[in-house]
Formats: sequence, structure tokens, C-alpha cells
Amino acid sequence: MEGVFMSVPLLLRHVVILGGLFCIVLFQGCSQNLPVEDDTVTIVFKHGKIAGNATPLELLIKRFEAENPGIRVKDEPLPATTDEQHQFYVINLEGRSSDFDVLSMDVIWVQEFARAGWLRPLDGIFPPEEREEFFEGPVRAVTYRGSVYGIPWYIDAGILYYRKDLLEKYNLPVPRTWTELISAVRKIKEKEDGVYGFIWQGRQYEGLICNVMEYMWGNGGGFIDNGGFHAMRQPNIEALAFMRGLIVQGITPEFVTTSVEETTRHIFGSGRAIFMRNWPYAWNIFNRKDSPVKGRIGVTMLPAFEGREPFSTLGGWQLGINRYSRHPREAERFIRFLTSYESQKTLALTIGYKPTRKALYMDRDLRTQQPFMVELYHIFERAKPRPLTPYYMMISQILQIEFSSVIAGIKTPEDALSAIDTQVGYILRLEEN
Ligand code: GLC
Repeated sequence: MEGVFMSVPLLLRHVVILGGLFCIVLFQGCSQNLPVEDDTVTIVFKHGKIAGNATPLELLIKRFEAENPGIRVKDEPLPATTDEQHQFYVINLEGRSSDFDVLSMDVIWVQEFARAGWLRPLDGIFPPEEREEFFEGPVRAVTYRGSVYGIPWYIDAGILYYRKDLLEKYNLPVPRTWTELISAVRKIKEKEDGVYGFIWQGRQYEGLICNVMEYMWGNGGGFIDNGGFHAMRQPNIEALAFMRGLIVQGITPEFVTTSVEETTRHIFGSGRAIFMRNWPYAWNIFNRKDSPVKGRIGVTMLPAFEGREPFSTLGGWQLGINRYSRHPREAERFIRFLTSYESQKTLALTIGYKPTRKALYMDRDLRTQQPFMVELYHIFERAKPRPLTPYYMMISQILQIEFSSVIAGIKTPEDALSAIDTQVGYILRLEEN
């Protein structure tokens, strides 16, 4: 009996060895017959359409492929506005689609997507020590219940673009306050035919919220008061009334009520406006060789209300991995590559995506080519986030409708703000339960 038992491990060993040999033979036999491409994994990368020239991103992807033989990246751009992209992801991720592996996410979505279980946690490839090298705002935005679900790719904050040449021609200072901006618009418009004053994003969409919040925060307002949500506050009423006033007084043309980033970028970029609020990406496009405003524009922080400090809305995009991806390891390599120091530097110099890695603001090449990097660093550090909650997009739908009705002159600020309190209060109670 003992002898029989003794021989079992030996037998097993033989089985294992033979099995292994069989597998090797089988594997080799198979791989010899397969076309080479079958060893290659293709990952699909979804991101918003790049304004201006997309070639620099395509070149970066080629470099990644060269450095990572065996991985191909299919670049699949989505429409430019955040709202349209959000819709795409919700439909596809809800349906557990594995058609894409890497996705670029707006700073306001990560909480929602993480809670829904649509993203792979990335703690392993984005450890706490490394997070400290990034701006704090975006890192907070990708953190949900102690884990990270994205790596910040580029950062955004609202800034003021101005026509340096026109301010110089009329001997006017770069406006530090709204009063100065309004008076500069009046003076220049008196003399210059057919030029618009101050343009911004006023269509009923997410960008409008970013704009409105800047006036509210800049006026000492916002939604959180005494630890609770309160929209109906005096500084908020004044902020909305001020924005509507810009249109009524002709400082801002009526068409902003239908404008998004790219609409205003085109108008300002063709030399038809004096001031514009937008994100930093536009600067690179304005300074391209063929740009009518090349060398004639400046950027600075948004103006302030008298006696107050200006605040910009924090924006930006993060790379994450679809929970249903069949190639998570390859996807991880790719997002590590795109968020690296070198890739962020390339994208900052070419497309104008501003780095989320703080060290890049000390980079000599970047500072030489884009001297306003130093000022931008401080703007990004102080930029304020929109509410960090998995329910943000529900809140956003309400804010969009109400803000838009004030900007279009249909509702008073008071009516809109009290409607917001009622409806958002309902959502926040959902969150508590
Ligand atoms: C920019 C910002 C993003 C914001 C969007 C609004 O893309 O990066 O955070 O939500 O604009 O239009």
C-alpha cells in the first residue's frame, strides 16, 4: 500500500512534465501557423476631438507603439463638448461595452463612473507618492472612496484672453477688475468698427456652469453656505444679474447665449473680439504661423469684482480604463505613457494641453516658449472645483436650464436660484440615503 502512495507524486510529476511538453508543442505548432498580427493587441482610445491640429497626439501614439511592440492604439475621437462625450460613455458603459479600453474623462465625471463600477482602480500604477507630483484638485477628483480611478492628463482653468495690440493702441491697462474691462470695451468699441467686446460661453451646457461659477465665487458666493447647499444667496443673485447685464449693455454680444468654447475661440481668433474667457488650449492655436492674431494677444487671470479676489473654475481631463476592457495591462502602459513628464511636455508645447504635473511649470523649454506658465501655475492652484459628487451630472442638468434662462433674459436670478434650491435639494437627499 505504502509503495502505491509513494508513487503518486512521481506519477504526477510525469503527468505534469508530459503535459507541459504537449502544451509547448501545441503552442509552437499553433503560433507557427498564425499570422504575426495575432500577437498584437489593439487598444481603443476614446477622447474629445482636439481643437486645431491633432497630429502631435497621433505622433505621440506612434512613438508609444514603437516603444511597445505588440501594442497598437486605435485613436477614436468623440465630439468636442463634454456633454456629448458624457452621453456616449453613459450609454456604452451602462451596456458593458468593451469596444474601448482607455477613456479621457472630464474632471466632473470620475465620481459618477467610479461609483457605477465602470472604471478599473488604478492604485497600483498611480501610487500615493506619485500623486503628490500632480496638482491637488485633479487628484481629488479622481479619488473615490480611497482609491484612484484615473490619472490626471491635462488641467484647465478659466482665463482671460485680451488683444494686447488694441489695449496698447488706446493706452489702456490689462483689466484687473470687471469695471476696468467694461470701460476698456466701451472706449475701444467707440473707435473700432465691428469688433465685439467680451465673449464667453453662454449656451445651455456644462461650459455655462463653469462661467457662472466664476462670477459667483468671485463675488463671495457659491453654493455651500454654513455647511449646506444654498443657491439663493445675495452674491449669487448679483453675479447672475451682472452676467445678464453684460449682454443688455452690449459689452457682450447676444450670440454668446448659443456659444461654446470653439465658437468663441474662432471669433476671437479671427480678430473680431477684444476680450474672451476661455480655457488655456486656445493660446497655442492663436500663436500658430497662419493665425490672424499671432503675437497680438495676451492671457491673464479673470478680472475681479471691486475689493474681491477672482476665482477660476477647475476643469481638465483624466485618463481611465474601462472596467470591461479585455486588455487592461496594455491600457495601463498606454495611460502611464500619455501622462508621463515627456508626453505632457510635448502636448503642452504643441496642442496646448496644460500639464497636471507641477514640475513642468519649472521646465525651461516650456517657460521660454510660454512665459505665462508661471501665472497659470498660480491660477491652477487656486482654481475651484465644481461639486465632487457621483450625482454631479444630475445637478448640472438643473443648473444648466436655470442659468441659461437667466442669461437669455427669461427668468430673474431670484426665480432661477430658488428653483435650483428646490430641485438640487431633492437630489442631495437622494445622496444621503
Ligand atoms: C473644458 C474643461 C472641462 C469642462 C468643459 C466645459 O473641457 O476642461 O472640465 O467641463 O470645458 O465645457
